[in-house]
Amino acid sequence: MEFEKKILCIGAGYVGGPSMAVIALMCPQYKVTVVDINPTRIAEWNSDHLPIFEPGLDEIVKKTRDSNLFFSTDIPKGIRESDIIFVSVNTPTKEFGVGSGQAADLQYWEKTARQILEFSESPKIVVEKSTLPVKTAEAMERILASKNSGIRFDLVSNPEFLAEGTAIADLLSPDRVLIGSRETANGLQARGELVEIYANWVPGERIITTNIWSSELSKLVANAFLAQRVSSINSISALCEKTDADISEVAIAVGMDSRIGDKFLNASVGFGGSCFKKDILNLVYLCQHYGLHEVADYWESVVKINQYQKERFILNMLGAMFNTLSGKRIALFGFAFKANTGDTRESPAILIAKRLLEEKAEIVICDPKALRNARVDLEGVEGNISYTEDPYHAAEGSHAIALMTEWDLYRGLDYERIYRCMVKPAFIFDGRNILDHRRLFEIGFNVFPIGKPAMTYYSSSQDFHVVR
Ligand code: NAD
Ligand code: UGA
Repeated sequence: MEFEKKILCIGAGYVGGPSMAVIALMCPQYKVTVVDINPTRIAEWNSDHLPIFEPGLDEIVKKTRDSNLFFSTDIPKGIRESDIIFVSVNTPTKEFGVGSGQAADLQYWEKTARQILEFSESPKIVVEKSTLPVKTAEAMERILASKNSGIRFDLVSNPEFLAEGTAIADLLSPDRVLIGSRETANGLQARGELVEIYANWVPGERIITTNIWSSELSKLVANAFLAQRVSSINSISALCEKTDADISEVAIAVGMDSRIGDKFLNASVGFGGSCFKKDILNLVYLCQHYGLHEVADYWESVVKINQYQKERFILNMLGAMFNTLSGKRIALFGFAFKANTGDTRESPAILIAKRLLEEKAEIVICDPKALRNARVDLEGVEGNISYTEDPYHAAEGSHAIALMTEWDLYRGLDYERIYRCMVKPAFIFDGRNILDHRRLFEIGFNVFPIGKPAMTYYSSSQDFHVVR
């Protein structure tokens, strides 16, 4: 079959895989190839066990794979054959040299740009799908022009806004698709090619086009605003705990103002995920680079509050459990950074687990999808750690449960059965506020939600919990 467009995506991760699977599904007239340097990842994409868990993804890959969606390690061939190249390689925080701990590490992006330059034999549209610092396109254009090959490369920014756990729904029905380009004749033509792809299923009014710098910057700012809301509500959760206000009631009262809105106001043990922290730090670095120190400090505080919230959770656990966790068995319900994903990158559970181990607690980690990643995250960490998918098994003989991830399955458990098999007094720390706290208290648990009065069988004294 002769395909209308040949699309390549470099980087078969959480973004490259799902976003290309959806383009392949919605555009059977295009050939979509996804390549990666990691052969294991590609083998998994070609198997019945995809490398990532994302609701609805398996079905789409089954429908499209080997019809118009292909996964391969042959990067040079992919580059030669394609007209449009999406680059969705990772852009982690730099861990060395200038900007260490803040700036984006662009080594993977630059290597990719150089490969595109090396293997291209015809004009290409190169699409920034990864999240990048504003002005990256300028640097990449320079690299792509460095060989004087006579081949035309047009750079377009098309950042991805999908959230894990809802990636397929987000991709099928995005709030908006953002396409930024140079506003030259060639840039506008490249922009048009991208619009044409998305117009296959996204309504025209949701496809927005901008200059290339606005597009690069908007992605960083969108993540910063989302994370800021979580840090805002989490900061207020600390105040609620001191004043007997209830963070859920406050969130409803505040969020019903249509100017504020009710989304992203769930207080939690802290935000995780591979992007919020790195993208804000990247924004902070950019502000500092341009001498905007007050602006940098403002955004950095979002990350600081998140760290504070995680530390606060541990201090609350320690305080509630008589200031010693040594030798106590603690079950972590959930390890993924949010529900419906197996991804654990920057999950608050990692820090909580490490801190509990430092306190010499014994920890049992359960999660329906994230145990493989949890094992990798805690590899080499000293202490008594075990893993199970079964929450009942995890709770057996435990002194406390710390709920880390809002998986639906943890809402519907038989907590009377769980209570019976735990060491008394039994504690539950609900890091996501998803459980029925009153019911748990009636069963006999000492219950510690986030930003709500604790329900304990002890006095409410701040420092000492004396048995009544
Ligand atoms: P990921 O780590 O899951 O995937 C990146 C892939 O790129 C890896 O499989 C890696 O092997 C591959 N890769 C690296 N260098 C390569 C090279 N030179 N050639 C070929 N393959 C190479 O990362 P991700 O979560 O998919 O994120 C990718 C980008 O998208 C990041 O910039 C991220 O900020 C952004 N983003 C992520 C999400 C998300 O939900 N994860 C959402 C929106 C945007
Ligand atoms: C986020 C953004 O929502 C996406 O738009 C963006 O594309 C993506 O980052 C990215 O650039 O990587 P994601 O990290 O997958 O998506 O998940 P979110 O739903 O945003 O949740 C992030 C973290 O915040 C999770 O740990 C979640 O539990 C936490 N959160 C979220 C809260 O604690 N409270 C809330 O009210 C909302």
